[in-house]
Amino acid sequence: MAGASVLRELRGDRADTPSVWFMRQAGRSLPEYRSLREGTTMLDSCVRPDMAAEITVQPVRRHRVDAGIFFSDIVVPARQAGLGVEIQPGVGPVFDHPIRTEADVDALPALGDDYEAALEPIREAVRLTVAELGTTPLIGFAGAPFTVASYMVEGGPSRDHLRTRALMRSQPEVWARLAAWVAELSGRFLRAQVLAGASAVQLFDSWVGALSADMYTTHVQAHSAAALARVSDLPVPRIHFGVGAAHLLTPMWEAGATAMGVDHRLRLDQALDILPAGTPVQGNIDPAVLFTSEQARFEEARAVLDAGARASGHVVNLGHGVAPDTDPQVLTDLVSFLHEQDAHRA
Ligand code: CP3
Repeated sequence: MAGASVLRELRGDRADTPSVWFMRQAGRSLPEYRSLREGTTMLDSCVRPDMAAEITVQPVRRHRVDAGIFFSDIVVPARQAGLGVEIQPGVGPVFDHPIRTEADVDALPALGDDYEAALEPIREAVRLTVAELGTTPLIGFAGAPFTVASYMVEGGPSRDHLRTRALMRSQPEVWARLAAWVAELSGRFLRAQVLAGASAVQLFDSWVGALSADMYTTHVQAHSAAALARVSDLPVPRIHFGVGAAHLLTPMWEAGATAMGVDHRLRLDQALDILPAGTPVQGNIDPAVLFTSEQARFEEARAVLDAGARASGHVVNLGHGVAPDTDPQVLTDLVSFLHEQDAHRA
């Protein structure tokens, strides 16, 4: 397993053949996912170990990607801790009670033995998945404190995260307590996945691009660092990914990542100019090319390989997740194309 190409690249030990997995490779783009999920809500499917394991393996089987990404969601830990949260189709996570005041933070559940016990279906799903995947590594994940807390503060998806940013500025100590709670929630979710068999982790800070570098370092970085620190004693690579976060690459790296995910807005060679020498990178094919011609898709894939060629390690991925209406055959063909390429050609 330690020789699996994705893990080699994430450790800065280059393989000759490119490795690839896709964010959101599981899910609605796959007909086998849609039929399995019929009659079960998104969050219920995440705590049914057999279902979560099967959904995780589906894209590996179909596309021959080099890693599985554990099927769950960034709000699953909050739900297992006892918060009222649902995922509304076409909308995203919605919380029953937004967290906006000191009293709201006081009322958050303690993360004691009950939480550890509530993670058992997650551990079981990871064990089943790892057994099924064989030599293909499983990547565990969690939502970063800013992105998860933003759903909690806003109550649901938000374009500008205005309430969250206002809370940071007006009641920094209330924000800090909330972010610390989420850091423990997400960090323990990561740790549970690794102890059950995941070989790497990714911390998703999808909406962190809404913050300035100053706001990030003052109000967020320490909490993301606390989440990652929950697995830093374990021998697994830690990928840190944000969307629209070119200006945050360095502070996100300094939060304790061992590899950086880069979205499609920043070329990998430009990311490498910013990051410390030797940083392995992951990314960043624009998911929009999945809706263009085969020639355009392969040219973009080749350009991404070339832009990442001088990195110490490079795992190919999209710049953000697979859109639900992506033709799955396009993904399968992209994986085959990448596996035929020489990673060092540039
Ligand atoms: O292949 C994978 O990546 C599977 C695991 C996964 C899911 N969510 C499954 C899911 C992962 C890693 C996530 C993380 C996640 N969830 C993030 C960070 C990654 C990113 O995309 O930026 C965020 C921001 C969320 C919150 C969330 N959950 C959103 C915005 C949505 C979409 C709502 C919609 O219907 O459009 C979800 C739901 C969700 N999570 C789905 C899946 C497969 C779709 C729900 C369904 O299939 O019914």
